[in-house]
Amino acid sequence: MKYQIRSGHVHNLRTGCLVVGVFESKRLSEAAQRLDEASGGTISRIIRRGDIEGKTGQTLMLYDLPNVRSERVLLTGCGKQRKFDDNAYRKVIETSAASVQNSGATDACCCLIELPVGTRNTRWKIRQAVIGIESKLYTFDQTKSAKEPPSHPLKKMILVAPHSDDGKKNQQAMYEGSAIATGMSLARDLANLPGNICTPSYLAERARAIKKGKRALKLTVIDEQEMEKLGMGALLSVSRGSEQPAKLIILEYRGTDSKTKPIVLVGKGITFDTGGISIKPSEAMDEMKYDMAGAASVLGTIKACAEMELSINAVGIVAGAENMPGGRASKPGDIVTTMSGKTVEILNTDAEGRLVLCDALTYAQKFEPAFIIDIATLTGAVIIALGNHPSGLMGNDQKLIQDLIEAGVESGDRVWQLPLWNEYQEQLDSHFADIANIGGRPAGSITAACFLSRFTEGYRWAHLDIAGTAWRTGKEKGATGRPIPLLVDYLMKQVKK
Ligand code: BES
Ligand code: MN
Ligand code: ZN
Repeated sequence: MKYQIRSGHVHNLRTGCLVVGVFESKRLSEAAQRLDEASGGTISRIIRRGDIEGKTGQTLMLYDLPNVRSERVLLTGCGKQRKFDDNAYRKVIETSAASVQNSGATDACCCLIELPVGTRNTRWKIRQAVIGIESKLYTFDQTKSAKEPPSHPLKKMILVAPHSDDGKKNQQAMYEGSAIATGMSLARDLANLPGNICTPSYLAERARAIKKGKRALKLTVIDEQEMEKLGMGALLSVSRGSEQPAKLIILEYRGTDSKTKPIVLVGKGITFDTGGISIKPSEAMDEMKYDMAGAASVLGTIKACAEMELSINAVGIVAGAENMPGGRASKPGDIVTTMSGKTVEILNTDAEGRLVLCDALTYAQKFEPAFIIDIATLTGAVIIALGNHPSGLMGNDQKLIQDLIEAGVESGDRVWQLPLWNEYQEQLDSHFADIANIGGRPAGSITAACFLSRFTEGYRWAHLDIAGTAWRTGKEKGATGRPIPLLVDYLMKQVKK
């Protein structure tokens, strides 16, 4: 979709659809008021008649409003004005986008940016609007034979911003929103693709496509032979049961001088997780194609950084492998030696995420990172602890954690910290190796992070467990593109002023 920013009055604008907000108790937004005046009170009459109450989620399409040039006017309910917060704003944007898409209008003009949302400025509202609209209109039909694109797709959206605002900054916010949305849609596509298409090699191919033509990016793909040389015994042990070779994909983004230490993002890229010999129950196992959502978010985030030409250095590392129960697969009790030299007793082959991540985290250290952040659909336990709203967050640096929590609130892609106390570490004690790969049922998400912490000693590191947030199940099954909004927001704040 094409976006444009403009300011000023809109009743003279020729457009397929004007979107204006109405609050509960018959309160019109400024734009709605102006249209009401222009049309001789038509909108207030309709509201008085009770066709729309203004509740969040409600919409009412009006046609041929007198003295208004736009073909349609969408009244969109915003709820109680006093309760109009970040979430309500996002919801209203998304509902409106869906209504306009279904209306037949091919271009529209959105007058919702003017709505006051706490202390949020216009830049924030523009960025959120673009991300919200793009996310809502995202569809995935690559794997259907009969594509059903909308017959009158929405192609252009004008966002109306207040006159007084800095036009350049608004424009910039629009590009930022678009870049984040592009990264998210890439990540959602990758995650939604099934395991027989999206293999570790496929991820490497797609990383190559992201790199193509972008001088600020550099791609390295490490194959199993090289992993062998590097001593990545843990990563290799996971892919050994599979016909698909593992790939370690490194996508470097250089946005500023080489003296600036990079932020390294490490993504779990299990393109299918059967559990291996500790095989999973068959119910909903199809969803384990999403076990590479962390990897997808890393690729999407790096792509967004490159599109924005962000003045930072960042490295994306994807640990790609398939977890299958083959003849050469790891067996419970097997002991492998990691790249760090530490040995691991694999007591459960279904705890494979930490096995591929530990070698990737050791490899990450060669970039002398300022920070390491890993992103992984690591544990079912995080869904039990936190449900599907925040991602789980743990780490060894409270400043980094705090920055991520704030980026989560800012972007609406929230996280919640769990304690990574030393007391939990002993659950990983092994009879025969340095560490066991599981820590028992209590605090499963924390002991998984404890395992990773053994491979990030001396580095500032945070871990995001996105098992509850990376995809939705049920009727609206599909990847969400999270935590890209969070990561990009965090990285944007790392630009040196
Ligand atoms: N990919 C799964 C985690 C997962 C499970 C994510 C369900 C989303 C939904 C991970 O590899 C896994 O299997 N973890 C085990 C760890 C256990 C064996 C210690 C789990 O969570 O059960
Ligand atoms: Mn598993
Ligand atoms: Zn897994």
